[in-house]
Amino acid sequence: MSVCAVRVASSGCRRTLLGLACLSLLLAFGGVVNAGQRLRATGEFTSAEECGRCHQDIHRYWKTSMHAQSSDNPRFQQAFQKAKGDTGKDPGCLTCHAPAAVYMQDASWQKKTSWEGVTCDFCHSVRSIRQGQGLPFVVEPGIVKTGPLKGAKPTAHDAAYSAAYTSSTICAPCHQYTNDKKHDVLSTYAEWQASGYPAKGTTCQTCHMRSATGHVVDPKVARASTSTLNLHEMPGGHSVTELNRALLAQVQAERHGETVDITVTVTNRGAGHKVPTGSPLRAIVMVVEADNAAGSRQTAARTFGRVVVDSAGQELNDEAGVFQRAARTVSDNRLAPGERRTERFSFPMPSSAPVRALARFYYRYAPDAGTRPDPGTPFLSVSAWLNAVSK
Ligand code: HEC
Ligand code: HEC
Ligand code: HEC
Ligand code: HEC
Ligand code: HEC
Repeated sequence: MSVCAVRVASSGCRRTLLGLACLSLLLAFGGVVNAGQRLRATGEFTSAEECGRCHQDIHRYWKTSMHAQSSDNPRFQQAFQKAKGDTGKDPGCLTCHAPAAVYMQDASWQKKTSWEGVTCDFCHSVRSIRQGQGLPFVVEPGIVKTGPLKGAKPTAHDAAYSAAYTSSTICAPCHQYTNDKKHDVLSTYAEWQASGYPAKGTTCQTCHMRSATGHVVDPKVARASTSTLNLHEMPGGHSVTELNRALLAQVQAERHGETVDITVTVTNRGAGHKVPTGSPLRAIVMVVEADNAAGSRQTAARTFGRVVVDSAGQELNDEAGVFQRAARTVSDNRLAPGERRTERFSFPMPSSAPVRALARFYYRYAPDAGTRPDPGTPFLSVSAWLNAVSK
């Protein structure tokens, strides 16, 4: 048993104390990484595959993330081509979707990392975050990787601690966006800032990069300073588990003569921003239903989302349009962090048979309205029963 195998609940402690303890262990083992494996310092970003030689577990999680797919996925590529066609100039999408291409000025996508989306070496070469005009990140590709570990001394590359990695500010430049029309297309960071979470020290990473058991570095290569790593999968609305974490719902039903009144309360208990957040093409659809064994069935639906229009008042239904042309939000009934919403429905229902009241929740998202699933991916559902009224 080594100190490195101890699991520590508090990540702050893990970073400071264990980092140091394991630094001395690493030294005691006398250089576990063989020199041949040292990364080359080229001034270019290194492919995620290279990082994955040693950081296998992290690579495996990242590979399944939306970040890994943000430049090569066909949904983005299609929208990007459309955006280029619309304006005839650079629509600015790549700063977030293929940052390596932008920062390396790889306009013709010759480099592998341009296709890797939000790739390892982009995030871990960030030296600081700039306010105002120009590209938001100051990056220095090379042998130094910045990260959240204090005192890590890998021999494959150099490392430096930076507080940015445990703060939401590293996510902000890509998850907050105001377009040329001065419209806030993405406001996830601002929604988080306006919530009670910053005061509690709950960052984007607290929820989206939870600690998981695994090897930060392949144990055959080196002993890492911790035996937990931060999930790089960054699950969001594409994950049913996350959606269930986000919302809590209750349903109540009452009879008033031949009418059934249904009350659904829904609470955003687990998301640090509005639900849904990000693109206005995301929505939560709630379908409420009352039915009885005698075959009576009534349904109604509510959509939680935001509708944005261009300067002529035309509703926008695709990402290319939303990012470039959105000028105003005409409605926004998304659930704010911590908010509890009550929705009421009344259905005619004979009192002679038992009634089941059901509320089902769906996540609806499509980068183009033409392919929009209806009502979407099911996640939560809650129900209540009413007995028949005996005459
Ligand atoms: C030959 C093996 C090897 C390769 C390849 C490798 N690393 Fe590492 N890396 C390590 C070791 C060993 C550590 C130290 C871990 C520790 O001390 O817990 C480390 C630590 C890190 C850290 C933590 C630094 C800190 O101070 O928080 C980051 C970030 C990192 N690596 C990123 C990368 C990236 C990005 C790549 C690809 C460009 C990469 N690594 C390639 C072995 C490797
Ligand atoms: C979106 C930016 C981003 C990308 C992409 C990314 N990382 Fe990280 N990485 C982070 C952040 C932020 C942390 C710190 C999380 C925390 O401490 O809460 C981190 C932590 C780490 C650590 C320290 C150990 C740990 O788990 O905390 C290593 C090593 C690392 N990343 C390697 C990689 C590798 C290898 C890849 C690609 C396969 C990668 N990262 C992709 C942002 C990123
Ligand atoms: C360089 C830009 C960039 C940075 C930095 C970045 N992201 Fe992202 N993120 C994106 C893009 C682009 C997408 C959408 C990818 C797609 O769907 O094509 C995305 C998608 C996501 C998603 C959506 C997952 C889903 O299921 O829909 C989550 C969650 C997320 N990012 C969290 C984070 C967190 C947390 C951080 C900070 C640690 C972060 N991101 C940093 C660009 C970035
Ligand atoms: C308290 C936990 C928590 C915090 C803090 C948090 N998120 Fe989330 N996030 C969630 C949950 C749960 C979901 C899934 C529900 C959903 O899809 O809205 C989610 C979904 C997302 C999505 C997918 C869009 C969507 O609505 O489907 C993105 C992008 C995202 N988060 C980014 C961020 C960023 C960036 C930050 C920091 C500014 C952040 N989150 C802070 C819990 C959190
Ligand atoms: C400021 C960063 C940023 C810019 C600029 C940006 N995007 Fe995105 N994009 C994101 C993020 C973050 C997400 C996903 C999460 C969300 O909804 O917040 C996303 C999601 C998408 C998706 C959905 C992908 C999927 O996996 O389904 C498409 C398509 C898309 N963007 C197209 C574009 C186009 C086209 C442009 C340029 C006109 C653009 N984006 C500009 C950050 C950005």
